[in-house]
Amino acid sequence: MIIANWKMNGTSENVRTWIEQVSNNIDFKPEKVCVFCPPACYLEFARDLIRNHKSQIKLGSQIINSSHDRALTGGLSAAMLRDIDTDFVLIGHSEQRSHLREDSRAITSKITSAIEENLRVVFCIGEDSDVKKKNETQKFLSEQLEVLKNISLESIVIAYEPIWAIGSGQVATREYIEEIHKFVKNHCQKFHYSEDDISVVYGGSVKLENCEEIISSNFVDGLLIGGASLDPGIFSSIYNLS
Ligand code: PGA
Repeated sequence: MIIANWKMNGTSENVRTWIEQVSNNIDFKPEKVCVFCPPACYLEFARDLIRNHKSQIKLGSQIINSSHDRALTGGLSAAMLRDIDTDFVLIGHSEQRSHLREDSRAITSKITSAIEENLRVVFCIGEDSDVKKKNETQKFLSEQLEVLKNISLESIVIAYEPIWAIGSGQVATREYIEEIHKFVKNHCQKFHYSEDDISVVYGGSVKLENCEEIISSNFVDGLLIGGASLDPGIFSSIYNLS
């Protein structure tokens, strides 16, 4: 799975160009799902373009609110996302955890709401540099993974994104990525799933120059790409090389 996370970037014209170029330039493989997560205001526009191009790009939302928060001004529910044919949603991204002070309770509620509407969840986890320096990454990730304990993992893709690697140009080494992905997969067996049922994608400064090495690492099932996904040519090359 190769996921483009545009964050708060782009215009409707950029969305149009991106979908047109990516649809024409990537060599779609059913086992390598291509997910586009534009800002929420462009989701429906992107959906229409994907349809017009008969493209196999899947639509993903960067945000969702719990279905319990009906009276939330500015809220976006799972039912609304499903209504406009969104297939995926990012939940637990470190930027949302810190900017919106999202805690495990809020994350669990969002995941449950998403699954109820048959959305597939890209659940993001990752440690900051302090945790890494103290050698406490695995303990920290185990705590973040606790929210999955009563959830059916069939609808979940885990995205391991070390915070110190996001947007920093400082990519994790192959050894580190393999060690952590292996740990995450093993840990999820606690929730009664086999390693093969659990997809773990990597994110954090993925670029054209490093994508082949990362994707060929053991235990890596895909990529979550921020900055390098904005350019349709670069994104298409990353998809084709991965
Ligand atoms: P980046 O962002 O590729 O720009 O580091 C990744 C992400 O935050 O999903």
